[in-house]
Amino acid sequence: MDGKSIIKEDKQYIAGTYSRFPVAFKEGKGCKLYDYDGKEYIDCGSGIAVNIFGVNDEEWKDAVTAQLNSIQHASNLYYTEPQARLAELLCRRTGAGKVFFGNSGAEANECAIKAARKYGEEHGGRKQIITLKNSFHGRTIATLAATGQDAFHRHFGPFPDGFVYADPDLDGIEKCLSGDTCAVMIECIQGESGVNVLGADFVKGVEKLCRERDILLICDEVQTGNGRTGYLYAYMAYGISPDIVTTAKGLGGGLPIGACMMFGRCSGILGPGDHGSTFGGNPVACAGACSIVERIDDKLLEDVRGKGAYFMAGLKEIEGVRSVSGMGLMIGIETERPAAEIAGECLKRGLLVLTAHSKVRLLPPLTISKEQIDFALKILKEVICR
Ligand SMILES: Cc1ncc(COP(=O)(O)O)c(C=O)c1O
Repeated sequence: MDGKSIIKEDKQYIAGTYSRFPVAFKEGKGCKLYDYDGKEYIDCGSGIAVNIFGVNDEEWKDAVTAQLNSIQHASNLYYTEPQARLAELLCRRTGAGKVFFGNSGAEANECAIKAARKYGEEHGGRKQIITLKNSFHGRTIATLAATGQDAFHRHFGPFPDGFVYADPDLDGIEKCLSGDTCAVMIECIQGESGVNVLGADFVKGVEKLCRERDILLICDEVQTGNGRTGYLYAYMAYGISPDIVTTAKGLGGGLPIGACMMFGRCSGILGPGDHGSTFGGNPVACAGACSIVERIDDKLLEDVRGKGAYFMAGLKEIEGVRSVSGMGLMIGIETERPAAEIAGECLKRGLLVLTAHSKVRLLPPLTISKEQIDFALKILKEVICR
């Protein structure tokens, strides 16, 4: 098939839930993708923070194919080595006590919500979860209810109750706190709503409030996790100790996986029958994820911080850029021109960028080179300055 036929067939048969860019990709290597006409694109989206080592990554493919050639699926009625290995790796790198594996970020957050509700039930019969205005936690009904944006709630109610949305400041949290609160759930950097970096005083203040009142602190690291910010998980940059950390996207390196990591006082909260998933912790996905997490070392994280600083400094020089926000290689750009127009024009010039609310959002593979960042800066300058 050629690119045009794929797009035509897709539009005819696939539910129209996505506003796709008018391109179909055939192949790629690292940060380079190629469409069906052989046109090259530099990727500053990573399949929305997934391909942290780019596409066609040899180590990840070796890990995945080795597992494909042994056992592809066994169900969670039995033990498999990749799942146990990945859980051990995540616990060792974060200090978590237990991990539950699902298939996506939304599922990781569903697990966090259930764990928090069960903890609340056992500690004073509490069930309310505070999330932040402008947060994004997923597309299932419960994670949509947790998402603090009205736009996502249209059409799909009724939602499960027990979620309240706080302004992202300590006053906002205090106003929402009640004797019924069992958890506060935050993204240290709100990705979907425009790469809004939460202030350190705020995040530390939330942690303190939670500790004082035996409330669980949940960090949603679905987008910020796995090295994206120059830290293994963004909460590490804040020096806090959350009770639950959820992640997905980059963890899988291209295959679906989600993880809910539970720490300390709530690590043993889920017991037999409390939760489950047929494909959760699939051995092929877990084998790939092990190869990803093993390679997120101090050297890579330092590189990400350095490249992020270089990228952001270059962006700030561009006329027509109002502000730049972010951490590491998670970058939001507020521009005078509408973000969607910029993304469309970048595509025409061979650069893939994302949008988030009114901003342009960059989530390149963590292995992007300085030359590729310079190319991205050149194209963004051409497009933003117009
Ligand atoms: C912070 C955050 N949480 C949850 C999700 C949902 O993840 P998934 O699409 O894998 O269900 C996303 C997706 O963008 C996200 O950015």
